Amino acid sequence: MNSPRDGARADLTVRPRRLRATPAMRRLVAETRLHAADLILPLFVREGTEPRPLSSMPGIVQHTTESVRAIVNEAADLGLGGVMLFGVPDAKDAIGSGATDPDGILNQATRVVAAEVGDALVVQTDLCLDEFTDHGHCGVLDSEGRVDNDATLLRYRDMAVAQAESGSELVGLSGMMDGQVAAVRDELDARGFQNTAILAYSAKYASAFYGPFREAVGSTLKGDRKTYQQDPANRREGLRETLLDLEQGADIVMVKPAMSYLDVLADVAAVSTVPVWAYQVSGEYSMIEAAAANGWIDRERAIFESVTGIRRAGADAVLTYYAPEIAQTLRDQ
Ligand code: PBG
Repeated sequence: MNSPRDGARADLTVRPRRLRATPAMRRLVAETRLHAADLILPLFVREGTEPRPLSSMPGIVQHTTESVRAIVNEAADLGLGGVMLFGVPDAKDAIGSGATDPDGILNQATRVVAAEVGDALVVQTDLCLDEFTDHGHCGVLDSEGRVDNDATLLRYRDMAVAQAESGSELVGLSGMMDGQVAAVRDELDARGFQNTAILAYSAKYASAFYGPFREAVGSTLKGDRKTYQQDPANRREGLRETLLDLEQGADIVMVKPAMSYLDVLADVAAVSTVPVWAYQVSGEYSMIEAAAANGWIDRERAIFESVTGIRRAGADAVLTYYAPEIAQTLRDQ
């Protein structure tokens, strides 16, 4: 390679900029593309008759069982892959009774959504107790106030059946209890729900980026989740959790949050024999919104760059609050 100092042309045979020269060329050689079908929209559903905006997540609301109908129809029209439902119950108690009550808000909402768009979207439900417990933990507590792993598994079994009966096609196990995939698979099979699939939040970290979600589900958590969610310091452990979930029969595995854990996502994608998803969580959404509102970043570019990066790192599909907006933009292009 020869790079003359006198202004003559450099003698370069390899010029990577050739493939960046025009929009059409860049589009042709793009390694990663976003598709509506690879996006899953998380939705919050509350009791009562009025949707409620979330101050910590501008543009996102807690829906009602009525208002959620329009949004899932829109999601179906846009060709999204699915919706992930979270319940926001009024009443909470120590064991999260609302989670297993067929008339609990999440199970009600699931029936509504399944009836509305059951064939057009994959209807998914969060299988975790934190939205339903008065202490805000993802499991039940023992006499000393610690999260009791095995007692929680019994609750998850019942929750899985209640959700499957309501029409959930994919239960999202986000509680990070040991053995949760095996327990739920066993119970679903025993109760005739062999075809209900399991999404395992395999590598789920104890993250500050869930902050706005706590408002979204009205969580009352005191303390933290560090005895069950993973330490952000640990990469290898993400792989260990994933391999355990695969052994136990997970149909899909997930890494969460996404942006601060792209290395873990790449590790998981390299070994997984099932689809790998990632969750762009509430705090990732709110950071983009806040910076964009201040004029500090270009909002649309930041949205596309963040989700493209998550796909490039190895996610086959992404849970993101931006799913409808991305799908709409793709359609308009
Ligand atoms: C647990 C759950 C959480 C989220 C999804 N499922 C909260 C937590 O683990 O503390 C967070 C999602 C988000 O922040 O967008 N039910």
